[in-house]
Amino acid sequence: MGVDGHFLQLPERLGGGELWTSPGLLGYPELSALQLLLAEQVLEEPGGSALDLSAQSGLLAKILPRPPQLVERSKAALNAAARNGLNALAALPWDLEGRYDLSLAILPAHLGNAAVAQVLDAAARCTAPSGRCLLAGEQRRGFSRYLEWAGERFARCEVVRRSQGLRIARCSEPLPLGEVQVPWSYRSERGLTVCTLPGVFGQSGTDPGSALLLSAVKGRLEGLRVLDLGSGSGILGACAAQAGAAAVLLDDDLAAVRSSQQTLIASGLTGTCLHSDICSELPAGSRFDLALINPPFHQGSQLSLNLGLRFLEQASCCCEEVLMVANAFLPYPKRLSELGDWSELATDGRYRVWSLRPGPRVTGSGRSSSKATGLSSCR
Ligand SMILES: C[S@@+](CC[C@H](N)C(=O)[O-])C[C@H]1O[C@@H](n2cnc3c(N)ncnc32)[C@H](O)[C@@H]1O
Repeated sequence: MGVDGHFLQLPERLGGGELWTSPGLLGYPELSALQLLLAEQVLEEPGGSALDLSAQSGLLAKILPRPPQLVERSKAALNAAARNGLNALAALPWDLEGRYDLSLAILPAHLGNAAVAQVLDAAARCTAPSGRCLLAGEQRRGFSRYLEWAGERFARCEVVRRSQGLRIARCSEPLPLGEVQVPWSYRSERGLTVCTLPGVFGQSGTDPGSALLLSAVKGRLEGLRVLDLGSGSGILGACAAQAGAAAVLLDDDLAAVRSSQQTLIASGLTGTCLHSDICSELPAGSRFDLALINPPFHQGSQLSLNLGLRFLEQASCCCEEVLMVANAFLPYPKRLSELGDWSELATDGRYRVWSLRPGPRVTGSGRSSSKATGLSSCR
């Protein structure tokens, strides 16, 4: 389980208490204004059964007298909820069944319109006929449009709380929806059948950075143990498996893990797919010859190197060589120098591919080595 994170002190109006939160989650390093606004509204709603479709680390379960069923697609969030003593369900919107007196969701605008539409469908399907649904979002991230879409799934929707550009809407009287279908997209590319679900990176085609990374490793993959870290559709790991590597593909997002699995199966390839917050679920002692990484460089809508640096650091603990592609302007080389010997393998002006051969690391037991100064420790 990941060890990065900290406990937050909850405000008195949310009952005080502590909540564990970790990097990459909404609510890290502090609760967001939207989470607070939704929590305040939830506390005013009548009791009954509840379904939280955007559980994150479980804030609402901490503050409601009768905790909601928590649902999450992010492994980092599931791990944080577990650390809060909460049992969240790892599921995607179309997996959900049952009816609740209250369903609620912070709409995942950062995952795109198709992912938001799926959450709205699930919210409508899972709200009891006499129940209510609370939807939270930001005006600058399409909330007015999403509210119109909610109006196609509920007979009534109105904004009940607002603060600057943040909105909470309450919907009721869910309308009947058609049969649930798993929203797969397929495309053929590089001799593979690439399968993706809403919200998964690379749904419309291979990212140019990933394509540059693949051209930089061409002819080098056969017989290697390869780790595809942050696998998305599975394109990098599937290309490695196709070239004769033993591939492990892992991603924090359950939709990405299922997409990676389906890409391997539909392409007639084998490999291992893991739902993992970076390396949190890799068996202890796992070793790889090569990691292939195209890390996220946003957290929410903010540019952030934080996740990319954590990817690099954790890959350095279990891989002989780490190949990472990123936008050329991102200042990764400073950290690469601290982690080991590195070189630039390829660039097309917009992206750079770096090769890192990690130096000896501080181990979990605290023993250090000569080159380890300034490094965080391996688990
Ligand atoms: C830029 S995409 C790259 C996807 C794929 N490798 C490709 O080249 O198309 C980064 C991926 O990292 C995943 N990711 C984000 N945070 C993560 C974490 N903490 N642990 C594992 N994967 C994570 C995202 O879900 C996303 O699929």
